[in-house]
Amino acid sequence: MAKIVGGVGVSHIPSIGRAIDQGVAHEEPWRSVIEGYEVARKWIADLKPDVMIVVYNDHAAAFSLGVVPSFAIGAAEKYRPIDEGRGRRNVPDFVGDVDLSWHIIDSVIPAGFDLTVCQELEVDHGFSVPMTSLFGQPEEWPVQVIPIAVNVIQQPTPTAARCFALGEAIREAIDSYPGDKRVVVVGTGGMSHQLQGERAGLINQEFDQWFLEMLPSQPEKLASLTPAQYIDQAGSEGSELIMWMVMRGTLGEGVEKIFSDYQAPVSNSAAGLITLYPGKTA
Ligand code: DHB
Ligand code: FE
Repeated sequence: MAKIVGGVGVSHIPSIGRAIDQGVAHEEPWRSVIEGYEVARKWIADLKPDVMIVVYNDHAAAFSLGVVPSFAIGAAEKYRPIDEGRGRRNVPDFVGDVDLSWHIIDSVIPAGFDLTVCQELEVDHGFSVPMTSLFGQPEEWPVQVIPIAVNVIQQPTPTAARCFALGEAIREAIDSYPGDKRVVVVGTGGMSHQLQGERAGLINQEFDQWFLEMLPSQPEKLASLTPAQYIDQAGSEGSELIMWMVMRGTLGEGVEKIFSDYQAPVSNSAAGLITLYPGKTA
């Protein structure tokens, strides 16, 4: 049986990926962020995962603004880092677990979650930066991956409650997979930030800290907030936090928090990190 062995929430700030790529991540202003990532890297390595399910958003790179799926899942052998304007990131291609992807698809679509199935998909910084943050710069990634994309860039976005419920459905799918796989689920993005418009530069540290505090044991409080409330509190791009709710939904009740870190400001946002052991399913 496959098993979820951990959950991680982590920001996907592109300049952190670039600092790691350029070998300057241990210098200011990145040092404190990278030190947190190193704690998470060790914890993940000890969990010995076979597969990472990475819940991320595409930033109008692989999906044009003309075609934006609310939820999408990869079912490809390989996911290449996409060119976002400065060439492809020089990281290895990501290797998919196609069989587990299809098992999840065959389980969650009949359960009422109509994911768009992508048998071809290239992934942007929303996916590749967390992988670098959590694994460094290996020659080959030590895990297979399953990308799950959530629309957080074009209104109307899914609700946090729907994201949480999708996570619960993914957990059921993993529990019923006959293969022996250890799975870590990652929710990426956030924390509060707004890159555009009148409130550009917004960071709401109080909201971010409350989000980190509620996530392990009172996720229903976070699930009950509307998309408009996420934008109001966390900024337009801070709505990326709903992707952490998919991750949290996979972990059940009685989740144990291992470690969290919060640094602000970092780039144009606040860098958050949390690692969680799963609890029981409801
Ligand atoms: C930043 C954060 C993001 O989530 C993103 O997608 C792009 C930029 C930033 O903080 O600069
Ligand atoms: Fe983003």
